[in-house]
Amino acid sequence: MSNRQQLPIGVFDSGVGGLSVLKVLQEQFPNEDFVYIGDNANNPVGNRSDDEITALACRIADALENQPVKLIVIACNTFTVVALDAVRARVSVPVIGVSQGVKSAIDASKSNTIGIMATVATVNSHIHKHVALEVDHEILVWEQPCPELAGLIEQGHLDDHFVRDVCSEYLEPLLSREIDVVVLGCTHFPFVQPLLEELTEGRIRFIDPAFETSELVRRTLAGNDLFNPQKTSGSVDLYFTKDIVLGDMLSASFLDTSRRTIEYITL
Ligand code: DGL
Repeated sequence: MSNRQQLPIGVFDSGVGGLSVLKVLQEQFPNEDFVYIGDNANNPVGNRSDDEITALACRIADALENQPVKLIVIACNTFTVVALDAVRARVSVPVIGVSQGVKSAIDASKSNTIGIMATVATVNSHIHKHVALEVDHEILVWEQPCPELAGLIEQGHLDDHFVRDVCSEYLEPLLSREIDVVVLGCTHFPFVQPLLEELTEGRIRFIDPAFETSELVRRTLAGNDLFNPQKTSGSVDLYFTKDIVLGDMLSASFLDTSRRTIEYITL
């Protein structure tokens, strides 16, 4: 057993969004320890410039590397599409970004027309379209920017008229096309998946790419001989840069909290 294997996996996002990824990672790797940083003082990042997004991502990655961690998972689509290369160049541990989830979406679509809901920065990168066309060059992809949604979710609007109104607005172009599958291209969005399903009355299937991301993590842990050999359940240490209230509430509802800590952090 090496010391490296016993280190935690670092996970980060601009707030609570990455908890939707951490949930799946904890289910898939129950013996791993996790350290999570949600930089909610700077949320939302999806409407910022690429330079700002990159600087924020690098600062969080530095904090995780100093923990130390054995692997970093960028549990945020925006940080992944804008800053993955910069973070990889900066730290000495393997770095994984979120999967685009388009393979699952293409497999599930009968109309061969899929939608993507994501932040402005992620939509502007057209990453989902590029990856989708590599998988199937005949696929039609509608990229729907959702500039207000992550910020609303971060403020705790999970099912009220504010979030209903913006979701209805963003769903309208998707519902007016032959789109039967939509990728949740922002890690905050799984928290409003029940609302999106209600508003689309079962006409659209929503894909959360977190499972695809966990498979990337599995391959990286295996490839680098990094699985934690401990037999007990792993711990989860959560840090937020602004307030911990929403992170506390959400994580308590779906993470194993027997070995969970949650604290404020200054980066
Ligand atoms: N959760 C992030 C994502 O997946 C972004 C939210 C934000 O705009 O800060 O893109």
